[in-house]
Amino acid sequence: MNPIDNWHQICRDEDYYVEREGDHHKGPAQARTKDFHCGPEGQGSEFETTNLLRSLVMAMKPKHLLETGCEQAHGTVAMASGCQFNGFGHVTTIDKCALANSKGPSRAHRAGVDKFITFEHMTTQEFVEQYDGPPFDFAFFDCDVPERVTTARAFYDKGLLSNFIMFHDVGVWHPRAVKYIGEINEFAQDLNNHDGLSGIQNTLARGWRMMQVKTIKKSMPIPVEEYS
Ligand SMILES: C[S@@+](CC[C@H](N)C(=O)[O-])C[C@H]1O[C@@H](n2cnc3c(N)ncnc32)[C@H](O)[C@@H]1O
Repeated sequence: MNPIDNWHQICRDEDYYVEREGDHHKGPAQARTKDFHCGPEGQGSEFETTNLLRSLVMAMKPKHLLETGCEQAHGTVAMASGCQFNGFGHVTTIDKCALANSKGPSRAHRAGVDKFITFEHMTTQEFVEQYDGPPFDFAFFDCDVPERVTTARAFYDKGLLSNFIMFHDVGVWHPRAVKYIGEINEFAQDLNNHDGLSGIQNTLARGWRMMQVKTIKKSMPIPVEEYS
């Protein structure tokens, strides 16, 4: 695939008939789910989110990318194709289910981005316990909703999140959103108090939230060599 191709080309290659979020993930009119696009039966991340992930990778140039919850590999392929465009960066995606284990690698292969991805077939808890690599500077949390914030905290507490942190499914209509968004807000508050920025939240359709671990401290000189 040409590196300037975008997610729509991936849809074409997969022979996706693009469906509307509102047909599968109902919400109140304010959630505007009819304006969002998704794959068959609403499976996998919606295409606005995948396009956003890919654009962010292209703009922010992360090196160590993390995804919890691979399933249809929409997020995985989107982030990896951003890495392909950049010419560097590597996605580690963790999923315990058999579907992700079979579908992820074959979809990545068809999209021509498999060399930018490591598929970890285990639980996020197992992964955090055994991982001793570099911290992730771009993390997309998309595993089971009730586990996402505890999973993010486990990575954060171990010093494994170093820059951008994203949560999927923060649309306010989501049945589990109230507790989940409350937990995310507490986490963002902790970041604000100590080491980060609480970021931005899009509540449309399934919703998406981004926050950031502070990477530039006030006292930190600008690393000139990075700009020369
Ligand atoms: C919402 S889907 C991920 C969608 C995917 N990001 C995409 O765009 O196609 C959630 C996935 O998280 C996985 N999952 C849930 N809890 C997990 C855990 N504790 N460890 C690893 N994977 C988990 C499930 O098996 C499921 O495939």
